[in-house]
Amino acid sequence: MILTITINPAIDKTIIVDSLHVNGVNRVISSREDLGGKGINVSKVLTKLNVPTIACGFIGSRNYAKVSAFVDHEQLPTDFVLVDANTRTNTKIVELSTHSTTDINEPGFEVTQKEINQLLSLIDSVAQEVDVVVFSGSLCQGMSLEQYGELIEKAASKTKVVIDAEKLALQEALKHAPLLVKPNVSELEGYLKVEFTSETDLIKAAQEVLKTSNTQMMLLSHGEHGSYFITTSQVIKAEALKVPVKSTVGAGDSMLAGFLSEYVKDKNIIEALKVATACGALAVSQEGTQSFTQEEVLKLKENVNVKELTWR
Ligand SMILES: Nc1ncnc2c1ncn2[C@@H]1O[C@H](COP(=O)(O)OP(=O)(O)OP(=O)(O)O)[C@@H](O)[C@H]1O
Ligand SMILES: [Mg+2]
Repeated sequence: MILTITINPAIDKTIIVDSLHVNGVNRVISSREDLGGKGINVSKVLTKLNVPTIACGFIGSRNYAKVSAFVDHEQLPTDFVLVDANTRTNTKIVELSTHSTTDINEPGFEVTQKEINQLLSLIDSVAQEVDVVVFSGSLCQGMSLEQYGELIEKAASKTKVVIDAEKLALQEALKHAPLLVKPNVSELEGYLKVEFTSETDLIKAAQEVLKTSNTQMMLLSHGEHGSYFITTSQVIKAEALKVPVKSTVGAGDSMLAGFLSEYVKDKNIIEALKVATACGALAVSQEGTQSFTQEEVLKLKENVNVKELTWR
């Protein structure tokens, strides 16, 4: 069982236009809404892969009817702490002519100490029963880094913790010795305040982060360039699959879900990395949501090239 925690969820609205005219009238070709938020996305993919999961975290009570319709449609098991507000809407404008995406993200609701305490008790009551707790995405308004750290510490005291966060949230999370951390290359660069020009420097730096934070594993993704599974003694590289790209939103969330779906079964890293890469590729070949099937993943993972790098 994999528990995901989304602190700052969103309804993702994807609008498709031919080209975007700023200061002009834009005609929409199509639009759709999906329940988003990084942990929720991970749980959505896990559900598709038939891996037991519960999506937890905060959700707005005022437009909950909308969220509930998505949850029912996706058959997503959830256990949210309700916040007396709307869940925000994040709008993504996809331009077909340039294949570019413009994001317009609302800040989202503010949570109170009472609601944070509710989430703490929820984690306290269920974390012991699950294989891992995944903390994905940004903090919401009203939550300090210390409070975020308390949530992670509560989970870490009961089970293994996985982190997909950036900037100060990543910095805080690394204080709690997670099992796995999943940055992309630019998030790792942002965290270390360096720009990597060689693979050697990148991997050395990643291993240094693992060592100093007492983190066991890193899943370091690099978009179309693929990904690395890194520990202090092992480095495995997975090439990305060549697929037609529609939208790169959520590739990392799908990749993380794919990796964990295999990892919790038997800790087979090679298989986990292949499934992760297939999920990442399927995510980018679709617009807006994570709606691929387990059959598609199983078929595509056979085409993934992984190789262990000799490393010292
Ligand atoms: N253009 C692409 N073509 C094929 N596979 C891709 C492409 N982009 C991403 N992927 C796959 O998905 C994985 C994760 O992608 P990426 O590094 O973009 O994640 P991310 O930046 O964490 O995404 P997000 O946080 O938005 O979900 C990559 O390692 C790769 O396997
Ligand atoms: Mg990411």
